[in-house]
Order: sequence, then C-alpha cells, then structure tokens
Amino acid sequence: MLKIQNKTIQFIFASPPYHNTRMYSDYTSYGRYLKKMFSILKQCNRILEDGRFIIINVSPVITKRPGQEFESVRYPIHFDFHKILEKADFYFIDEIIWIKPEYTVPNRIAGYLQTGMPLPYKPNCVPESLLVYRKKTPFLLDENIKCYSRMLANAVEDTDTSNCWYISPKTDKDHPAVFPEKLCEKVLKYYSFSGDVVLDPFAGSGTFGRVAKKMKRIPVLCEANDKYIKNWKKKIMMTFEKEIIDNAVSKLIRGDDYRDEVVNAINVSFLDFAVDFFKKIVTAKIKENNADLA
Ligand SMILES: C[S@@+](CC[C@H](N)C(=O)[O-])C[C@H]1O[C@@H](n2cnc3c(N)ncnc32)[C@H](O)[C@@H]1O
Repeated sequence: MLKIQNKTIQFIFASPPYHNTRMYSDYTSYGRYLKKMFSILKQCNRILEDGRFIIINVSPVITKRPGQEFESVRYPIHFDFHKILEKADFYFIDEIIWIKPEYTVPNRIAGYLQTGMPLPYKPNCVPESLLVYRKKTPFLLDENIKCYSRMLANAVEDTDTSNCWYISPKTDKDHPAVFPEKLCEKVLKYYSFSGDVVLDPFAGSGTFGRVAKKMKRIPVLCEANDKYIKNWKKKIMMTFEKEIIDNAVSKLIRGDDYRDEVVNAINVSFLDFAVDFFKKIVTAKIKENNADLA
C-alpha cells in the first residue's frame, strides 16, 4: 500500500483479520492488533481521494479459552474500529448491518436451551457490521458528486432502503473468509461510480476485485499471503477464458469481427500469469520432469 500515490483511490472496502480468529493472524495482543490496523487505516486515509468513503466489515470475536476454568474473552472489534477510524481522520456516516441466515452461523444458544437458566444466555450472532466512514474533508459531498455525469446514476429499482442487508455468507475452498459477491456488488453500487479506482487492502480470495472489474471499476488489491495472490492469477485466467468465449461467440453469431475481444482482454495480470505458466513448463522440460502448475 505504501507504493500507492496520495489521493488516487475513490473507494475502499475492507474486511480486516478479526484479531486472531483465523490462521492468517497471529497478534501477540489485542492492543498490537489494533495498532497494526490503525497504521493501515492511516495509509488508507492518505491514498483515498478527499471526501470519499471507506467501509470496514467487522464483527465482535471471541478468543478460545485455554481451559474450562478460564473465562473466554469477547472483543467488540467494531467499537474499537470506530476509535481508530476517527484517529485516522475518517468520520462516521452509517452502520449497515449484514444479516446472515441463522443456520449458517456457529450455534451458541444450545447450552441455554438445555437448562433455561438466565445469565449464560448466548444468542446466535447473525449480523456483521459494515462501518461506513468518510475521509475528513473541508467540503460537502456535493463537490464529489459533481465530478460525475448524471448518466452514471444507478437505476433506483431494487434499492436497499434500510440499513439491514440479508445476504448468505459464501464459502470457498481456498480461503476461510470470503466476501459474498452480492455484498461487494451492493457497496460498489452505492459508494462508487463506474470508472473509479477501488481498493481492497485485505483482498484474500480477490472476490472484491473480480466483482469490481465486472462492474467496470478499476480494482487495486493488497494481500499479505502469496498463496492467495497465486489463486487470483488462476481465477483471472478462468474469467479471461469465460469473457472471451461469451463475447467472441456472440460477435461470431452476429457475423462481427471477434478478434479484438482476445486482444483487448490481454492485460498485465494475464501476461504475468502467462509468463509464470510458461516459465514452469520450460523449467520442467529442461529438468525432464512434470511441471507443478498449482
Ligand atoms: C478477513 S480476510 C479478507 C477476505 C476477503 N474479504 C475475501 O473476500 O476473500 C483478511 C485477509 O487479510 C490478509 N492480511 C492479514 N494481514 C494483512 C496485512 N497486514 N496486509 C495485507 N493483507 C493482510 C489475510 O491474509 C487475509 O487473506
């Protein structure tokens, strides 16, 4: 993120690690975790255009207790994110609640249902927060809006009129916590315009990038884990093929020249993927063994 120039991003959507809940985080304390998140938010503020939005997807987490004799600790991450977002020069706009079907979330209520005893009541947690903040800026939102043509307005049918969005979570064999595409579609629709440069600083599976590209935004993705970045390249290759096939076939049916579809679809990511792919094949050929293309 340090390489991104000041004020070049028009929208940021991020789901940071929820403290130590997954194997990709290993913070020695909750304080250190918040300090790291704050330093990333400061960078987000630097690169975001004045007056534009950042949305952080978080929810409270519970840490595993070392034994029955200990109390487990539950961190209200969303409250603490409010503090570090303000400190990083953003201000609060909205909280949108993403609500998941109850059968998709861990069961916490079973213990209470066995005894009915008050106090250890632990309801199943179906919501996650989408914290909507704006970069502190000495002008109104109208200044941002007037940079765009009215032609870029959304159709208002199917607008989410309340701040509760009911969306099923998504599972992925390659990543433990992926955004559902629908969630990415909604935030992109309401908080960015076609042609905007949009960032996911914790990109994981790269879902946000793929949806952004489909919605004609220019995605920028950051991710600490090389394994996930390699997976994007494989998926980009797959969408590349699908896009080409769909568009080329429809042009072919119409009797149009379809070759520019192929040429236009070749981008830096594709070239990067192709170079890596052929390098592995050539290396395998030289060593006379099988190529590892995973
Ligand atoms: C909750 S997941 C986000 C998943 C993503 N929203 C998706 O749709 O797949 C958090 C991601 O942040 C990555 N990560 C953790 N610390 C990071 C850091 N300091 N910089 C960049 N990425 C980081 C993790 O490897 C993980 O993939």
